[in-house]
Amino acid sequence: MRSTIIAAATFALGALAAPSLSPLQKRDCNDTCMSYDQATSVANNFKTLIAAYSDSLADSAMTTDFVDYSDSVTSLINGGCQGPVPYGSETFSSLADFKKGQASQPPIPFEILNLWYACEGPVVIRWRSAQTPEIVTGNIVMETQRSSVDANYPWKIKTVYSEFNSGAWQVNLNVFKPNCTASGNAASGPVGKKMKRSLPMHIM
Ligand SMILES: *[C@@H]1O[C@H](CO)[C@@H](O)[C@H](O)[C@H]1NC(C)=O
Ligand SMILES: *[C@@H]1O[C@H](CO)[C@@H](O)[C@H](O)[C@H]1NC(C)=O
Repeated sequence: MRSTIIAAATFALGALAAPSLSPLQKRDCNDTCMSYDQATSVANNFKTLIAAYSDSLADSAMTTDFVDYSDSVTSLINGGCQGPVPYGSETFSSLADFKKGQASQPPIPFEILNLWYACEGPVVIRWRSAQTPEIVTGNIVMETQRSSVDANYPWKIKTVYSEFNSGAWQVNLNVFKPNCTASGNAASGPVGKKMKRSLPMHIM
């Protein structure tokens, strides 16, 4: 057990250095398994694509068949309307689409709040964008694909499933103008919404 743990630690530190461990020692952590540092790099690559976009990073950090699903992003593209991008479908159906969309964005503040990952991905993050007047929080699931040829980007982002508080983002963009009191509270709506939350009691 102890030697397995030491072997795993050695592997995490030198994932690309091909340590000469016997097949038996490599059983619990091998070339097909993502390390914590690699998962963090995947997350930070995505963060950089949002916060300080470049075409070259998109080409390095993503697979050539990259696809992005996000009705939240679609609602921003659509300005809250029903088109041009249909809801429930790919937001960016190719790497070229994503690059075109992202290159036209101003840099967006983006902070990673939490990270989870598994052997071959996905890498999952919770994030926050310190926008004004309303902060925006979201979750992203990133499926990844191992690259055996690119030592700098051993895990590339293949599919993104991303949703966030697009209502707040629409407010920040002035697309949605809420009816607020001077103290920032809703002048209308919350009473009715609170009623809806107790719907199960009505059903009973
Ligand atoms: C590597 O680890 C994964 C996950 O535990 C396992 O599915 C796979 O069979 C392993 N591969 C080898 C070559 O041992
Ligand atoms: C805002 O909410 C108040 C309180 O419900 C209401 O009287 C007012 O008409 C609303 N204003 C708009 C522009 O909807």
